[in-house]
Amino acid sequence: MNAKPSTALSPSEMQSFWMPFTANRQFKANPRLLVRAEGMHYWSADGREILDAVAGLWCVNAGHGRREIAEAVGAQLATMEFAPTFQMGHPSAFELANRLAAIAPPGLDRVFFTNSGSESVDTALKIAIAYQRARGQGSRFRVIGREKGYHGVGFGGISVGGILNNRKYFAASMLPGVDHLPHTLSIEHNAYSRGLPAWGAHLANDLERLIALHDASTIAAVIVEPLSGSAGVILPPVGYLKRLREICDKHDILLIFDEVITGFGRVGKPFGAQAFEVTPDLMTTAKGLTNGAVPMGAVFAARKIYDAFMQGPEHTIELFHGYTYSAHPAACAAALATLDIYAREGLLTRAATLAPQMESAVHSLKGLPNVIDVRNCGLIGAVEMEPRAGRPGTRGYDVFLKCFERGVLVRQTGDIIALSPPLIVEPADLARIAEVLGEAIRGTA
Ligand SMILES: Cc1ncc(COP(=O)(O)O)c(C=O)c1O
Repeated sequence: MNAKPSTALSPSEMQSFWMPFTANRQFKANPRLLVRAEGMHYWSADGREILDAVAGLWCVNAGHGRREIAEAVGAQLATMEFAPTFQMGHPSAFELANRLAAIAPPGLDRVFFTNSGSESVDTALKIAIAYQRARGQGSRFRVIGREKGYHGVGFGGISVGGILNNRKYFAASMLPGVDHLPHTLSIEHNAYSRGLPAWGAHLANDLERLIALHDASTIAAVIVEPLSGSAGVILPPVGYLKRLREICDKHDILLIFDEVITGFGRVGKPFGAQAFEVTPDLMTTAKGLTNGAVPMGAVFAARKIYDAFMQGPEHTIELFHGYTYSAHPAACAAALATLDIYAREGLLTRAATLAPQMESAVHSLKGLPNVIDVRNCGLIGAVEMEPRAGRPGTRGYDVFLKCFERGVLVRQTGDIIALSPPLIVEPADLARIAEVLGEAIRGTA
């Protein structure tokens, strides 16, 4: 189906929008505008069909243009566009929390709503620190993150995160007392692993070193992505997450999984915790919750954490935290409609069925010029290329651009190309994505 080509925007029409995580001047000199989407595709302003190999930004898990979601949101807005959830409530917020609890890992059945992944992370960090105080362990104020971790852009998230460019300007404004585990990417030991890499479970033992340095009595929580997406798809070595869980248990430290990317079916189960068989105490989610239709995030908490707050006189507000738009009615409507689609179409486990096709599609790129690693898990794939001397990231950008020109939208992080197509993807789409990415890599010096 062809979209009617729309007029390109002039430089003056584009001047006011300060674009996020974008080279603004480069983009505005040569814009890439998307105007319509359906199924596995976007359409660009110049009328081209673009195969979406990244589910928008890892969020449109059920594919584009889902009428049921649009209709549910429209009906909700027509009935009641907003209702406060501070000392008030509306039915679909409670219904959604129950529906989410029903698909969550066992025990993670208390749900706090936010509007984004960054807000989910800051909320989880605050809950973890406040929980320690609520149970009489207020000296536990530290949070341990991980190198190369991405936990959004709030001050909490960049503090526990480990991505240099997100941190360097704000070094003086970080949360106090944060430390970091080593990341688990090792091309030297694990290049071209299929699925989870075999080498590296011992990297979790570094937590014991940090505990020996800071003492467990000062540590509230450890936060990691079970599988990092934004830093360029970094997989947990076999046994690594279990080891982290054991060390946290031994020292009575909370374990937080940031599942903003792994949540809602990306790795073959509803959540990474289930796919990797390790249950955290808190879980942050966002992308995928509403299929990208309305901003929304959710933090899942273990019942013991919720219960620790439910003390003291009943008239007291137990947690001084929340957002005007926590559990916004339109977001709840979108999320409920999304969960219906996921259940009806089996999308929360479809990545497990398609993982072998994803794996062979991305690993077919091994041996192409400059490729130094290929990684995959569920419906996530990545190809890492050697950076150009003195110009890191330019090769990745050129490949991204070539893919877009040839009709495939991929995600570039430095010299890594990440793939995370909608969970409705078909094997023929995966083959096409690999073909176009392969051509782009071959055509880039
Ligand atoms: C693991 C993780 N946490 C948090 C975030 C931040 O989410 P948002 O951009 O919705 O704030 C992201 C976004 O990519 C993410 O991948």
